[in-house]
Amino acid sequence: MNSILQTERLTLRPWETKDLLECIEMNLDKEVMKYFPAILTKKQTIEFYDRVQKHFLENGFGLYVVENTIAQEFLGYTGFMIANFEASFTPCVEIGWRFKKQYWGKGYATEAAKACLQYGFDKLGFDKIYSFTATPNIKSENVMKRIGMIKTGTFSHPKIYKEHVLNLHVIYETEKII
Ligand SMILES: CC(C)(COP(=O)(O)OP(=O)(O)OC[C@H]1O[C@@H](n2cnc3c(N)ncnc32)[C@H](O)[C@@H]1OP(=O)(O)O)[C@@H](O)C(=O)NCCC(=O)NCCS
Repeated sequence: MNSILQTERLTLRPWETKDLLECIEMNLDKEVMKYFPAILTKKQTIEFYDRVQKHFLENGFGLYVVENTIAQEFLGYTGFMIANFEASFTPCVEIGWRFKKQYWGKGYATEAAKACLQYGFDKLGFDKIYSFTATPNIKSENVMKRIGMIKTGTFSHPKIYKEHVLNLHVIYETEKII
């Protein structure tokens, strides 16, 4: 298997075609997509998968599949994307995560994200990594806190209309310690 990172329980690796079905299922789950404007249809997840592949080709990094090493099940993804929507801090490198509901509450997102941050600084050469989420998404904000990121403010997401409950986002940052 072509693994990028190994942690105590997890393997982070590039996407394989078989992951698409799992990802489609994850993105159709209303609870998983609660803090996004909508669920993703099958077609939208296929488009997302193509964007992830393109991002890897263009940048050499991206969102990695997270698998539990022993059972080799698709749990979700964690990794990096270039955020280039209009904001004072963009373009920037963003760390993000999404896991299937049955794998929440086990520390997997934190374990995967911690390893990713270290990989980002040590191997990919990033100086600063950002993360953001809609203010009601406390679970995601808690991952940011647990991996040592610091809240630096809030911003109004330019792609979500102003009155929408998901418009206001928290912003977290972390820098490479030399
Ligand atoms: C964001 C998301 C990944 C967070 O998942 P999570 O399960 O809360 O986070 P972790 O995997 O780090 O697990 C932490 C929880 O596992 C518990 N836990 C259980 N066993 C553990 C272990 N062995 N080690 C560490 N934590 C453990 C922790 O106590 C914590 O529980 P708490 O939330 O009740 O305090 C998940 O909610 C998700 O995929 N949401 C949908 C997508 C999304 O919103 N993404 C973010 C967009 S910006």
